[in-house]
Amino acid sequence: MSTTHFGFQSVDEADKAGHVKSVFDSVAPKYDLMNDLMSMGMHRLWKAYTVTVANLHEGDQVLDIAGGTGDLALAFAKKVGSSGRVVHTDINEAMLRTGRDRLVDAGVVLPTLVCDAEKLPFPDNHFNLVSVAFGLRNMTHKDVALKEMCRVLKPGGKLLVLEFSKVAKPLEKAYDWYSFKILPKLGQWVAGDAASYQYLAESIRMHPSQEDLKTLMKASGFGHVDYHNLSGGLVALHVGIKC
Ligand SMILES: C[S@@+](CC[C@H](N)C(=O)[O-])C[C@H]1O[C@@H](n2cnc3c(N)ncnc32)[C@H](O)[C@@H]1O
Repeated sequence: MSTTHFGFQSVDEADKAGHVKSVFDSVAPKYDLMNDLMSMGMHRLWKAYTVTVANLHEGDQVLDIAGGTGDLALAFAKKVGSSGRVVHTDINEAMLRTGRDRLVDAGVVLPTLVCDAEKLPFPDNHFNLVSVAFGLRNMTHKDVALKEMCRVLKPGGKLLVLEFSKVAKPLEKAYDWYSFKILPKLGQWVAGDAASYQYLAESIRMHPSQEDLKTLMKASGFGHVDYHNLSGGLVALHVGIKC
């Protein structure tokens, strides 16, 4: 049996998805509040930038993977209009349900589907845009998921991967202090769950750097890949084009 990482722990590959499921089952009810608190609202700016780079048009077909509580899906839906379609997906029912309720409250009904990014139930060459925000880091086989994302994109289509990344050197010390000393306490205080936020801090350190993810995306079939560092590399937006 092969092993992989779950944060800083080594676990059987077959068990990682179950560990990730427990994290998101636990955090789903307080996910949006925690996102605002721990990023001091910055996640809204990172997502707004992602929507700008997406450059969607009326009628576009969009797949939001690991879409969770649905903020990107909602923003995309406003851009593609009634002739387009945004499919809101996640492997976790609790996250998806929270997202679907939020979308309905906003007066938007989207196709919502539980699915694993490593086995996408969509035909080849279908979407103009695929997005995955803060989701890739949690996947067991990132290469398999990226190949699936490439497969379902139309030629010329765009993948946007928004994810925590390698922070600039001068910020490292403060970021480590915040991640390991403050974040788990905040998680305990707000969501009653320190362990999930300890996992968040650890999983960020285990995720490929900007350049490594670029290489992985190229190896997964994207003809052109580039990235934009946001907030000093705290987060990076990788853009992959299926050529
Ligand atoms: C940190 S949340 C991100 C949610 C949302 N995209 C956002 O930006 O706020 C990560 C999401 O990835 C989902 N996820 C983890 N592994 C997945 C997989 N293999 N396929 C699809 N979604 C997955 C989790 O269920 C969780 O909802």
